[in-house]
Amino acid sequence: MASISFSFKGAITLAILIVFLGSSSAQLSTNFYSKSCPNLFTTVKSVVNSAIQNEARMGASLLRLFFHDCFVNGCDGSILLDDTSSFTGEKRALPNLNSVRGFNVVDNIKSAVEKACPGVVSCADILAVASRDSVVILGGPNWNVKLGRRDARRASLTAANNNIPPPTSNLNALISSFNSLGLSTKDMVALSGAHTIGQARCTSFRARIYNETNNLDSSLAQTRRGNCPRVAGVGDNNLAPLDLQTSTAFDNNYFRNLVNRRGLLHSDQQLFNGGSTDSIVRTYSNNANTFTSDFVAAMIKMGDIRPLTGSNGEIRKNCRRLN
Ligand code: HEM
Repeated sequence: MASISFSFKGAITLAILIVFLGSSSAQLSTNFYSKSCPNLFTTVKSVVNSAIQNEARMGASLLRLFFHDCFVNGCDGSILLDDTSSFTGEKRALPNLNSVRGFNVVDNIKSAVEKACPGVVSCADILAVASRDSVVILGGPNWNVKLGRRDARRASLTAANNNIPPPTSNLNALISSFNSLGLSTKDMVALSGAHTIGQARCTSFRARIYNETNNLDSSLAQTRRGNCPRVAGVGDNNLAPLDLQTSTAFDNNYFRNLVNRRGLLHSDQQLFNGGSTDSIVRTYSNNANTFTSDFVAAMIKMGDIRPLTGSNGEIRKNCRRLN
């Protein structure tokens, strides 16, 4: 009898342990800093707000930093690390080089947060809060951000090159890239709605505007060719808005564009090209509320990707360097 009750207890303990270990975000919570840094949210928001007043695109750039952080070994602030003698950082990876931006704004947020509560808030969490604030300031939805991530003590150039999907991806590649991180196809489409804000370089959409006449509106192609010469190496960094109508407003115009064959990137138009995600795009194009609630749910899921918690990692003092 004793042995039966022991094994029953043992089984329960084991089950609890499995649930706990299996859910890597078990320790993230929306009130993580409520005692240790009560002014965190006002502090971050005021710096993000001035950065966006100064340059509206910065909201897009901060949101993208969070995506590129989470997709590379989890949301652990690894993208913020500068190169050191012992590793090359993620900033030099192909999807990031000459492309990701906003590091100075993150430094400013970190300084303000360190002044308010020294040594408490991770850089990984700062990216999560700054992304939410950017979306809100640009007119998008609000949500409670889960916190308690710690900062990585390493970065991975190789993982950044391998795990961030390129704009040449087809639909299957996009789906499997997101699925491999626990994000569904619907999450992938909703998160792609982040392309309702921000800019892309000519090098990211050149092939599409010259070659993809079958699923690209001809007048958009014409317009974009005007500032993105056909020859590689010429005008590579010239910018165009991902959402041709309202690139500094967080709305559902990105999906309306896709329905009208006006996606700027090859990967954008893949979401509405006769495949399995057409119906999701159509729903979002007709219903802004469905888009925003799915976007919020997917952002929270993305923020849950493999965080460092407990005594793993560290709370960096300077987001660019290990302590
Ligand atoms: C679905 C796969 C995705 C692909 C293939 C992709 C690709 C790209 C590319 C190529 C650019 C332009 C970069 C440049 O030319 O310098 C870009 C910009 C951007 N991406 Fe994505 N992206 C994807 C998903 C996401 C997600 C999930 C988010 C955020 C939740 C996001 C947020 C952004 C933002 C906001 C910009 C504009 C950044 C700025 O103006 O600084 N993207 N993306």
